[in-house]
Amino acid sequence: MLQLSIIVPTYCEAENLTVLIPRVNRVLTEAELDAEIIVVDDDSPDETIQVCEKLAENCPLRLITRKNERGLSTAVIAGLNAASGGILLVMDADLSHPPEKIPELVSALNQRQADFVIGSRYVEGGTTDQSWGWFRKWNSRVATWLSRPFTSARDPLAGFFAIKRQTYLKAHQILNPVGYKIGLELIVKCRCRNVVEIPIEFTDRVAGSSKLSFKEQLRYLKHLKRLFDFKYQNYAYFTQFALIGLTGVFVNLQMLALLSNWMISPIAVALAIWTSMSTNFLLNRNITFSYARHKPFLKQYLSYCGSCLTGAVFNWLTTMVLSRSFQFFEKRILLAAFIGILVGMGFNFLLCRYLVFSK
Ligand code: GDD
Repeated sequence: MLQLSIIVPTYCEAENLTVLIPRVNRVLTEAELDAEIIVVDDDSPDETIQVCEKLAENCPLRLITRKNERGLSTAVIAGLNAASGGILLVMDADLSHPPEKIPELVSALNQRQADFVIGSRYVEGGTTDQSWGWFRKWNSRVATWLSRPFTSARDPLAGFFAIKRQTYLKAHQILNPVGYKIGLELIVKCRCRNVVEIPIEFTDRVAGSSKLSFKEQLRYLKHLKRLFDFKYQNYAYFTQFALIGLTGVFVNLQMLALLSNWMISPIAVALAIWTSMSTNFLLNRNITFSYARHKPFLKQYLSYCGSCLTGAVFNWLTTMVLSRSFQFFEKRILLAAFIGILVGMGFNFLLCRYLVFSK
């Protein structure tokens, strides 16, 4: 088996590739690494394809051209799936990542029992480009900080990393990243525990332009939610369900305050409950259980109402049983009611998760 596959996603990188590929090739020869370079291009309108064809005459370069798809992460996955090396390494084409560090990343995987190796900007010895202003620095730091629930690595959002083929194969069928952060996706889904970071000097591109738009950054938040659901499963669903339940309290009280000015209170209370139940349904359908969003709306809505009613009945029963059967709760009716709320919410959650919003 080939020792190493280097995957380079590209979109309009003709100018950079003419410098990068010979530099990578030199490093591979000097380090005596038996490797292939896979460029995954999304049918760039510049000269990227022609440049690759020319470079392939002297380098172990393979070009994959995707005609109908766009996106950094999916391009990387296409490259990883097509690779035949025992070690899979990913890097940008824009010369941000020093190819001279490739042998160090490879030997860290081989010798330090690492599951995942990052060419890192944020460990001692690593640097970002001098030209970065405070906004870019903070932007990068905040995005990195948001990845804390998933890994203790200092730079899990880097695009320069390596993973063993056998580790990648553990999860290659369940990868579905949105946006740019394929490295983080791999760390989480391939369950990489030992992540080693090698310091690198990150330099900003000179030629071409970054494709990392504001929209991509918003997609990162969506990606984080997906990873949260994946890693923490029912805890994640329950947390979101409970937080949405809390927003329902505010909707209910606001509606009640609004309606009670011009209608009799039993109807106002009923309308306030119905409104908060409906907003909770919409939020749960679109956020907590978004995986079931494609299912018929009305059927889901009606069964959600049924589930809320069941939760309310369990709430009532628990409060009654506690306050009537246990002396301790006789004088602590609020505590009994609170436990009732928790039990009702628990039942409601289970019904939602496994019936109303079943996969
Ligand atoms: N095939 C393909 N399709 N490649 C793409 C696409 C795409 O839609 N978008 C970007 N690329 C390629 C670029 O050509 C480049 O080789 C690499 O992916 C990085 O893209 P840039 O647009 O230059 O990213 P950046 O420099 O702003 O972002 C960097 O920082 C992030 C961490 O903050 C990159 O290093 C990212 O990989 C990294 O996640």
